[in-house]
Amino acid sequence: MRPQFVVFAGTLVLVLSAAMFAGDQLSPKKEEAAELGACAKSVAGGFLQIAPTRDQRFQGKVTEPTARCRGGMNAVNFRFTPWVDWSNYWGTGDTSSLPVGFLSVQAPKFRGVSGALLDLEYERIELIKFNLFDNSGTYQAYVMGNAAGIPGPVVKTWPEMRLPASNPDYAAVGGAGPQVCSGSLIRARTLTGICNDIRNPLMGSTGMPFARNAEFESTFPELEQTTLTKNRHGGRIGLLTPDPQVISRKLFTRVQSNPAACNLGFGLPNNSVDSNCDYQKAPFFNVLAAYWIQFMTHDWFSHMDDGHNAPGTSMDVGCKTKLVNGVQVPLTPDEVQQLGCRPQDQVDKTYVLDDSAPGQFTANGKTYLARAPKIYANNNTAWWDASQLYGFDDVSVKRVKHDPNDPAKMLLEPVQGLAGGYLPVLQAGDPFEPQWTGQESVAFPDNWSVGLSFFHNLFAREHNSFVDEFRRQAAQTPNADSGLRNPSDPKRVIAYKDVSADELFNVARLVVAAEIAKIHTIEWTPQLLYDEPLYKGMNANWNGLLGTGDPDATKALSDIVVHGFGTSTNAKKGTQWYSVFASGPGIFGLGSTVPHYDVANPDDVNGGVNHFGSPFNFPEEFVTVYRLHPLVPDLLEYRDLKKDPNQIVEKVAVIETFESKATAAMHSRGMANWGLSMGRQRLGLLTLNNVPQFLQNIRLPRLDTPTGQLDIAALDLIRDREHGVPRFNEFRRQYGLRQMTSYDDFVDQRLPADSPERKRQMDTIAQIREIYGTHACDASKIITDAQRNSDGTPINDCLGHPNGSVVDNIEDVDTIVGYLAEYARPHGFAISETQFVVFILNASRRLFSDRFFTSSFRPEFYTTLGINWVNHNGPGPIMMEIGAPNGHAQPVSPLKRILMRNIPELSPELQHVTNAFDPWARDRGQYYTLDWKPRADALSDPSFK
Ligand code: HEM
Repeated sequence: MRPQFVVFAGTLVLVLSAAMFAGDQLSPKKEEAAELGACAKSVAGGFLQIAPTRDQRFQGKVTEPTARCRGGMNAVNFRFTPWVDWSNYWGTGDTSSLPVGFLSVQAPKFRGVSGALLDLEYERIELIKFNLFDNSGTYQAYVMGNAAGIPGPVVKTWPEMRLPASNPDYAAVGGAGPQVCSGSLIRARTLTGICNDIRNPLMGSTGMPFARNAEFESTFPELEQTTLTKNRHGGRIGLLTPDPQVISRKLFTRVQSNPAACNLGFGLPNNSVDSNCDYQKAPFFNVLAAYWIQFMTHDWFSHMDDGHNAPGTSMDVGCKTKLVNGVQVPLTPDEVQQLGCRPQDQVDKTYVLDDSAPGQFTANGKTYLARAPKIYANNNTAWWDASQLYGFDDVSVKRVKHDPNDPAKMLLEPVQGLAGGYLPVLQAGDPFEPQWTGQESVAFPDNWSVGLSFFHNLFAREHNSFVDEFRRQAAQTPNADSGLRNPSDPKRVIAYKDVSADELFNVARLVVAAEIAKIHTIEWTPQLLYDEPLYKGMNANWNGLLGTGDPDATKALSDIVVHGFGTSTNAKKGTQWYSVFASGPGIFGLGSTVPHYDVANPDDVNGGVNHFGSPFNFPEEFVTVYRLHPLVPDLLEYRDLKKDPNQIVEKVAVIETFESKATAAMHSRGMANWGLSMGRQRLGLLTLNNVPQFLQNIRLPRLDTPTGQLDIAALDLIRDREHGVPRFNEFRRQYGLRQMTSYDDFVDQRLPADSPERKRQMDTIAQIREIYGTHACDASKIITDAQRNSDGTPINDCLGHPNGSVVDNIEDVDTIVGYLAEYARPHGFAISETQFVVFILNASRRLFSDRFFTSSFRPEFYTTLGINWVNHNGPGPIMMEIGAPNGHAQPVSPLKRILMRNIPELSPELQHVTNAFDPWARDRGQYYTLDWKPRADALSDPSFK
C-alpha cells in the first residue's frame, strides 16, 4: 500500500493508515522468505557510499530491500515518514519487536540490531564530515587545508590553539617558539583545561568559544543575513517572535488534574502526601538521572560567568503578543491573565565574546563565513574533567576544600545524626554570589538542587574512598611501584610511599572523572535510550564491539586505528576509517597500548586523540539539546530508609530544595534517604506540556527586575534565539535528518486513526499551528542548501506543496519546541531523534579528543590502582551481576558500586538494581520492557498504583 495524501486544514497531511503499518499480510513463512530475498538484494546493492556533499546525506533512510531485510513490512512502511528507519528494525524494541512464527527470532534480531548499528555508524561518519564548525579561527584551514598543505580534516595543530603571551604558562609551553606542553603541565588535568592536547595547549580550556555544528551561514536566522534565511523565515521571526512566554504557557505547561493540590509546584502545606502535581513520566528513567545530567552539564559548559550574565543588560522576555491572521498583535490584559504569564519579567543578556564582522574567505568558487556572526565563551573547561567538583578557574578553585589532615582528600565534615561525611558549607572568606549563601562549597554552585548536592557529596566521598584504598596499599607495600611516573624524570619508579598528597589528589581526580565518563557512557545513556542497539553502541564506544573478551584483538585494532589511520594525511582514512575502526577496540583507551610507551614522548602521550580537523569544544547546538528542564518533577516523593522504603512519607516541593534549601534538605534528611527517594521516582518525559510549574514561576534573587521572577522554559527559547541556533527544520537538515513539510508530520503515524493518543497529538499540533501560523508559499524562493527534494531539486518555500498554497510556518518552529514535539521515537528513547543525533557526534568527540580517555589512560598518569579502579568499577576484581539482564552478561554497574561503597545503607535496596538510573523498584522484566510494574518486594509502593 502507498501512502495517501489528503488535504487537511489547508495543509497536506501524510496519512498512513494503521493497516499499512500492520504490513501486507503474508504468512510468517512467506514473509521470512521474502525478507531473506530482500537481504540478498540489499547485500548485492553494496555498501552505502558516504555522501560527497551535505545535501546528499543518508538521513537514516535505507532502500526498500534493506528495510525489508532488517525489519519486514513495518520498516518498509515507516520509510515514508521523516524519522530514521532503524527504529522499526527487528529487535530494536521490546519483545514485540521480534517476529512471530519465524524459524527463530535470533537471525532477524541480529539483522535488525546490527543494521541499526550500521546506520548509526554512517550517521556518525557523516556528522564528523559535515558538522564541524570551529569558532576560534581555524575554519578556513579546515576547508582549505593548512599552510603546510595538510588537508583540513587531518590537520592536528592550529596556531589559534597556542597559549597567548598573557597566559602564566606561556613560557613553560615554549613561548613564541613551537609550543609543546611538558613536565608538570601534562601529568594531570590542569585547572583551566590547558595542555590536555599537548600540542594545542589552549584547546578546550576555560573561556574558549563555543563551536557550532551548523554551517555558520545558517546560524542567527533572526538576522536574515543571507537570501536563504530571508526566504526561509520571510521576516516572521525575532528574539521575542513568536512570543516565548505564550509558547511556554500554551505548549510547555503541565496540565493538572487538581491544580489546588499542585499549587503551582509548591504542593500542600507540611509536605503533605496529598500534594499532587501531574507530569508525564518515563517509566524506565528515575529522578537521579535528571539530576545526573544537570550535574554533567555543569562539568561541560556554561554561558554564565560564576552565576551571572552580562551586567546592566536587562531585556523583556515576552508575554506581549500573539499571532492573529498572520500578524503579531498585542495581548489584552484578559489574555495575559488567562495565560498566567508576566509581561513585566526581564532578564539580563548573555555575555558576547565577539560580535565583530566575522570575515569571509573563498574556496572552490564558494564564499564562506570564517566564523559565526556572534560568538560566546564557554566559561567552563570543555573537557569531561569533573571541573564542577574540582574547579575551572582561579575563583572556582577557591571553593574546593582539601582535608587539612590529608590534603590528598576532599574536606568532608560530619553532620549530626547522619552517617558519612558531607561537603562543608561556604564560609565568609570564600568567593561566592549572594544567592549561594548557605550552600555547600563547590566549584560550580549555580542553580543548586538537592540532586546536585547528592552527586557532589557522592563523588567527594568516592574521591576519598580511592585515596583511602591507595593509602591502605601504600601501608601494605610502601616500596612497590605505584605505576605513576613524572614526565620530567620518566625513568624514576615512583613507589607508593613516595606519592605526594598533591600527586594523589590529582590522580583521584583523574579516576573520578573517568568513572563519571564511564557511568555516563555505559549506564546513564543506555537507560536514556533503552534499547538493544544503544546498549551495544554505547558499550562499543567504551569497551569496543569486541568487548573486553579478546584483549589481544582489541590491542591490535587499537594500534591500527591510532598508528594507521590516526597518522594518515589522507582525509578519508584519518576521519571516516578512523571512526569505523574505533568501534572495534572502543574509543576509551585508544592508543594506550602502544609498545614501549614513553611518558616523555608526546607522540605516545598524545597519540590516541583525534579532533577530526576541528579543535574540540561543545557547539551551541549541544547546549540547546541539553535544555532538559521537563525532566524535573514538581514534587519529590520522599521516602525514609529506616521506615518502609515502599512508603512515600512526604511530598517535598523541588522549589523548596532550591539553592541553600538543597543543602538544608540534604543535611536534615541525609544521602541515603535522598538516594532512595530519587532512585525510586520516575522523571519527566522530554515532551511538550511537561515543564515543571515551579520553573515557569521561579524567583531568582539575583534578578534586579520588576517581578524578580522568570519563566525558565520561555527563557530557554530566548537563549537559543540569542545564540543563533537555527530553528527546528533547518536544524534537522543541518544534522542530516529529513526535513518536515507540515506540523502534522509530528504525529506518530503508527497510532491507529481513532486512538485517543493520536487525538491528543493532533490537538497539540493545532496549538502549534495557532502560535506559529501559516502563509501562502512562493515556490520561487529557495530556502536551504543543506538538503534536496528526493528528485534532486532544491527545496523551496512550498516544501513540496503547490505554489501559492497555504503552508505551515514549520521553518519558524523553535528547535526546543520541535524536538519536544517529536512523538515518533525509537523504543525506550527518553529524548527525541533530533536531540540524539547531536549526542552521536558530540558524545563520541568528547572521548576521541581527550587524551586522558585515550592514550594517557595509563598507570603513568592514573597509577596502577587507578587504572584497575576505573576498569573494574572499584577496588578488587570486577564483580558480575547475577543472571543476564536483557541477555547480556554484565559487570555490576559503576554507579551502583559507587553508591554501595559510599552510602552503604543503600546496599540492600540496590541489590535488585541493574542500572542505577532505572527506577529502583521497577521489575525490569523481559527484553527492554517499559512496563511500570513493581518488583516482588515493592508491591505496596503507591507509585505503582
Ligand atoms: C532544580 C532544577 C533546575 C533549575 C532551578 C534550573 C534553572 C536554570 C536557570 C535559572 C538557568 C539559567 C538561565 C539563563 O540565564 O540563561 C538554567 C540554564 C540551563 N539549565 Fe537548568 N535548572 C534546573 C535543572 C536542570 C536540569 C535537570 C538540566 C538538565 C540538563 C538543566 C539544563 C540547563 C541548561 C543546559 C541550561 C543552559 C546553560 C547555559 O546556557 O550554559 N537544568 N537552568
